[in-house]
Amino acid sequence: MPLILNGKELSETIKKELKLEVESYISKGLRKPALAVILVGSDPASKVYVRRKKESCEYVGISSLSFNLPESTTEVELLELIGKLNGDDDVDGILVQLPLPSHINTQRVIEAINPEKDVDGFHPLNMGKLATGKDDGIIPCTPLGIWIMLKHYRIETFKKDVVVVGASNIVGKPMSLLFLKNEEATVTVCHKNTKNLKDHTQKADILVVAVGKPKLITDDMVKENSVVIDVGINRLEDGKIVGDVDFDNVKDKVSAITPVPGGVGPMTVVSLLINTLSIYRKKHG
Ligand code: GUN
Repeated sequence: MPLILNGKELSETIKKELKLEVESYISKGLRKPALAVILVGSDPASKVYVRRKKESCEYVGISSLSFNLPESTTEVELLELIGKLNGDDDVDGILVQLPLPSHINTQRVIEAINPEKDVDGFHPLNMGKLATGKDDGIIPCTPLGIWIMLKHYRIETFKKDVVVVGASNIVGKPMSLLFLKNEEATVTVCHKNTKNLKDHTQKADILVVAVGKPKLITDDMVKENSVVIDVGINRLEDGKIVGDVDFDNVKDKVSAITPVPGGVGPMTVVSLLINTLSIYRKKHG
């Protein structure tokens, strides 16, 4: 059996530590950390993710301020709200759940968030800091969560061949930049136009898959004893949640693998709390 990278358990441990830290601030008479969470429309998956994020905030003692806006919200209205939250000293972080309705320009919205409150790390300034190896930026939650999990399980990243499947701004690109930082690993980024995906994935010491295609990765595509990180969360017709990796088919060939659910997902949420607290600490810590 491979090592199962238990993101659920690790995230619970980290959340307990964060809760204690927040309690120490409160006992000193400081205000609670606060995260504004904006959801536009009623995408069912987004509603679930936002609920989980807010529940985790409450658990550790971060106030979550909810802004549930109708699908018909205009870009101007959304930008106005962000402007107000940018100017509110009692708001530490601002999160706009993606995807946004198609009539709203996502990039314009991301760029409207004060980079110092950008808990998702999607603002070009934070992306640029990650790309140039500066340490004072905010790292996007899923890559950060994966990194924390790899370090917790003492999985070596130095000099490894890493293959990231998926080149999104949310996961694939920042994940590859994180592995590339300090010339840590050798990184290949694959995407939907990659020829012969298998030729690349087969060479990976560490394979990260984030494309949203159920069971895309099968045992013939992975290297023996490699580490497989599955970011996919796909709901099948029967309601079952599966990743982008065919877990049962792959597990006996690899040395470590994340389950879905209970792997990367909870680490993403805990990283949001970590990012919110880092911002708060800069002001109060
Ligand atoms: N949609 C899917 N993943 C994310 C994320 O990490 N942050 C936000 N804001 N939206 C998302």
